[in-house]
Amino acid sequence: MSGQRAAAAVPVGGDPLLQAVELSAGYGGLAAVKGLDLEIHRGEVVALLGANGAGKTTTLLTLAGELAPLSGEVRFSGRAARASLVRSARSGIGLVTEEKAVFMELTVAENLRLGRGSTDAAVALFPELREHLHRRAGLLSGGQQQMLTLARVLASELTVLLADELSLGLAPVLVQRLLVAVREAADRRGVGVLLVEQHVRRALEVADRGYVLARGRVVLSGSSAELRARIREVEASYLATPV
Ligand SMILES: Nc1ncnc2c1ncn2[C@@H]1O[C@H](COP(=O)(O)OP(=O)(O)OP(=O)(O)O)[C@@H](O)[C@H]1O
Ligand SMILES: [Mg+2]
Repeated sequence: MSGQRAAAAVPVGGDPLLQAVELSAGYGGLAAVKGLDLEIHRGEVVALLGANGAGKTTTLLTLAGELAPLSGEVRFSGRAARASLVRSARSGIGLVTEEKAVFMELTVAENLRLGRGSTDAAVALFPELREHLHRRAGLLSGGQQQMLTLARVLASELTVLLADELSLGLAPVLVQRLLVAVREAADRRGVGVLLVEQHVRRALEVADRGYVLARGRVVLSGSSAELRARIREVEASYLATPV
């Protein structure tokens, strides 16, 4: 156990697992994210904060390779995401978006198998899934589907988790459990996490550090302690009106 924790420590000066360098990205040639420099290291949870429309989802989609950059680049372990590298590198990236990614017609067990991780590991994370293993996922509640989504991703061999609003619409107790599961993936397995979470204070409780986006640009970044100390500035960025 102690060995695992030591291995999960953030390497000083090591290459980030995933990095955005001067990254601009968006839709139809229009940048929604501009000149973004961001990095995620092994074993850390990084919060990505900002108002609705600030560019958080666009950032995650671009880091995951779902959107091509308009300029700048995404690097995996210090290497530019050239086509030959992308597939193998991306296989270690888990993207959990606001849309629940479960196959409604398949059972919970079948959904877990599709994640190529172990069902036991998934059930260990969220034991309440066990009694539903042979039910169709479409019959689960919204919160249970969210657990299934996260369990499937966390039970797979992943190095980076990009999590977009895991907590949307969920009961506070469940939100807390999902965040604890994310924190443990970082601490025990060295997963690097980029966490988009609408509840700023909750995000800063679980994260090591964070970036605040406003209108597609980073306006503030620092350790969670620093951002908590500057919470007024963080919250003010949510009130910035589009230009
Ligand atoms: N598919 C799309 N086509 C065109 N523009 C888009 C698309 N998706 C998002 N945008 C625009 O890009 C900008 C950034 O959107 P994005 O979804 O990244 O914001 P967000 O920070 O995730 O917001 P939220 O907190 O509401 O999820 C917004 O101005 C939005 O209108
Ligand atoms: Mg979003």
